[in-house]
Amino acid sequence: MYQTIDPKEFTVFITGATSGFGAATARRYVEAGARVIATGRRAERLDELKAELGERCHVGVLDVRDFKAIEKFVADLPAPFDAINVVIANAGLALGLEPAAEVDITDWETMVDTNVKGLMYTIRALLPGMIARGGGHVVTVGSVAGDYPYPGGSVYGATKAFVKQLALNLRSDVQGKNIRVTNIEPGLTETEFSLVRFKGDDSKAAAPYANTEAMNADDIAESIVWSTILPRHVNINRVQMMATTQAFAPFDIYRED
Ligand SMILES: NC(=O)c1ccc[n+]([C@@H]2O[C@H](COP(=O)([O-])OP(=O)(O)OC[C@H]3O[C@@H](n4cnc5c(N)ncnc54)[C@H](OP(=O)(O)O)[C@@H]3O)[C@@H](O)[C@H]2O)c1
Repeated sequence: MYQTIDPKEFTVFITGATSGFGAATARRYVEAGARVIATGRRAERLDELKAELGERCHVGVLDVRDFKAIEKFVADLPAPFDAINVVIANAGLALGLEPAAEVDITDWETMVDTNVKGLMYTIRALLPGMIARGGGHVVTVGSVAGDYPYPGGSVYGATKAFVKQLALNLRSDVQGKNIRVTNIEPGLTETEFSLVRFKGDDSKAAAPYANTEAMNADDIAESIVWSTILPRHVNINRVQMMATTQAFAPFDIYRED
């Protein structure tokens, strides 16, 4: 039988665990026997998750845009949650879908601060401990938007291209240190992502998922967990996944009337 790693060996640090992929991944790991540190900004959501998942789950309010807060949180982690060997750098968001010339500049800034700088901060704060303990696994959450452009996605897609390239570069950077790096790149998945993008507008948020079957958070959690339980000599570099109902558009040729 093919030997995978028993998740009971894992202490998993997750950003963006208050909803969507992060929450589903926290549940999936605890179910499999891992210890999970679930973080995000919404304290109530974290309290609910803690009540649901019990003693194998430790929670903490954390904004990934605050490097010093991440460093302090990690330094203060109580045993047995203090020896993290899997990091799921998942926190992120898209804001708006306006054309670039009309976008609210603070939306672009928030996406860069969260998806780019927050990811950098998470990795920089967690990596030294894993190297010192002899190994680990960093899973970043990118997007198909990091490969395929779409109108209104200028900065969101660019942040996810950054995530992909950071993950690839990190892989060569940690060569020989027994650190694995995987970028998970989902397409259309139904979570609160769209509600956040459209700032609480339910009807706009529902439109991308209308009359179709998107992926769900459990689909993504399954791939995240799978990439981490493969034998230690295997590194999955990238996992690009789409709903079966989602495919590629042809090139968009502008024509004069
Ligand atoms: N859903 C999709 O179609 C899709 C496709 C490809 C990639 N993604 C990516 O997948 C990741 C998870 O998205 P999701 O679909 O699960 O969306 P979601 O349900 O909206 O979850 C996003 C998570 O990120 C957290 N977050 C946002 N800003 C944060 C900050 N400054 N500090 C800490 N946590 C923060 C949120 O928690 P708080 O608000 O409580 O802080 C929340 O837990 C994101 O990186 C997203 O870009 C999503």
